[in-house]
Amino acid sequence: MIQQALVSQWSAPANIALIKYWGKKGLQLPANPSLSMTLDKSRTYTRVSLDLGKEKGSWEYTYDHKPRPEFDPKISAFFHRIRPELPFLNEVFIRIDSTNNFPHSSGISSSASFYASLALCLCQLNEEYYNRDPRKIDLLKIASNIARLGSGSASRSILPGFSVWGQSFIPQSTDQHAVDINSNIHPVFRSYRDAILIISSDKKPLSSTAGHKLMNENPYAEIRYKEANNNMLRLYQALQDGNQGEMIVITEHEALSLHGLIMSSTGGTLLVKPETIACIEAIREYRKNSGSKSCFTLDAGPNIHLLYPDNEKEPIQRFIKEKLLAYCENDKWIDDSIGQGPQKASILSEG
Ligand code: DP6
Repeated sequence: MIQQALVSQWSAPANIALIKYWGKKGLQLPANPSLSMTLDKSRTYTRVSLDLGKEKGSWEYTYDHKPRPEFDPKISAFFHRIRPELPFLNEVFIRIDSTNNFPHSSGISSSASFYASLALCLCQLNEEYYNRDPRKIDLLKIASNIARLGSGSASRSILPGFSVWGQSFIPQSTDQHAVDINSNIHPVFRSYRDAILIISSDKKPLSSTAGHKLMNENPYAEIRYKEANNNMLRLYQALQDGNQGEMIVITEHEALSLHGLIMSSTGGTLLVKPETIACIEAIREYRKNSGSKSCFTLDAGPNIHLLYPDNEKEPIQRFIKEKLLAYCENDKWIDDSIGQGPQKASILSEG
């Protein structure tokens, strides 16, 4: 057992799902497998420090050094779930501070990048606390499982590039943690970019967690889970073959299906805005006229993720500036791309 306080710092990126996780079973297990691309720039930076002098088994969370009590219930549920897996949590007081470099609660997966970075800090500290070397464990696999218990999509933000979470036909895939599928991805997809067009950064009227729950009563749920598995089969084949046309069809279909499910759930929530639809139409028109391989996808919010190959960077960014920025909130967009996953900032000893 250590004598001094430890600090761990990780940053983890957001990810964008091409096959969507929407609906859960059991303890944070997905109703269908999902496939995503981990981003590069859009990140959460998290610092966790242990305080041996304060109340054991307790924790405190700040966002950008300021208390944000609205996040506490979800973090509390997370700690409750992970305590049996990370026993050091019962021995110490945990101080967490995080900050994002993109707006949260706006349909960009801030909970994914937050729980991924937090899980990495905690898994590492658990080993350090018991004087074990974290390099001797499969940190990414263990942290992906822990991150899932905070936010399902966070399991995928632990891994670089393309990953799959959820039991499927893909070898090693499981409901417990995400798996890396990059070695099977055709080179044409390996340098894809994601332009995130911020239509609105307002807080969403429906949280993802509440949306997942509504799937328990959604009349189309069983058909959806079957279709997601079928879409996974087709997309995985397209990603291996370098078939961009097929990738476009499935990615856009998944985005629209997600919003169809949200609209057909109790409450009939509309998360898209008129500007979202205008952007979608402009992207389809642009693709028809130019032969571009770009496509859109959506998270559970109004913002557009415009995915495109790196070799189209110049014309696409011109198209964004000339046409799409008019639909964005204060001309805001994020120029992101596929990335290499979380990054560790050194463990520092204090005291
Ligand atoms: C639409 O992972 O945010 O972004 O597990 O309740 O935290 P919780 O939900 P969350 O759901 C993400 C849903 C999605 C699709 C996806 O990322 O697969």
